[in-house]
Amino acid sequence: MTHKLFKASAVTAASLLCLGLSGTVNAGASGAMLGNTCAGCHGTHGVSAGAAPSLKGLPVDYLKQAMHDFKSDKRPATIMNRIAKGYSDADIDAMAAYFGGMK
Ligand code: HEC
Repeated sequence: MTHKLFKASAVTAASLLCLGLSGTVNAGASGAMLGNTCAGCHGTHGVSAGAAPSLKGLPVDYLKQAMHDFKSDKRPATIMNRIAKGYSDADIDAMAAYFGGMK
């Protein structure tokens, strides 16, 4: 059971580390590249197996709005408002197109 706990925190640590990195090199990063940093919680290809909701195929406008609302603290969240603050408007557009375009 300690093993399972360790694994979960390692995944979270890894995704937070990726988020930090993508924040520094986000000039023209693709939606797929940016989207990979979300996979730790939202699942590979946007299909979540855990507590975070699936993102695959949600309307692009909804995804954009959600990220902007998290970023400005308009929408309450446990973690997404901290995450959303690391992304520019262009990043959000790219990620929304990436997840929203998934079939
Ligand atoms: C550390 C885990 C974690 C990471 C990494 C993460 N999310 Fe989330 N996300 C959540 C959780 C948990 C929620 C539910 C709201 C909350 O409590 O923060 C959520 C909610 C969302 C929602 C709202 C979905 C809905 O149905 O309304 C969107 C959109 C979203 N995340 C996008 C992203 C994007 C884009 C990324 C990558 C930049 C990302 N998330 C990275 C955990 C995460």
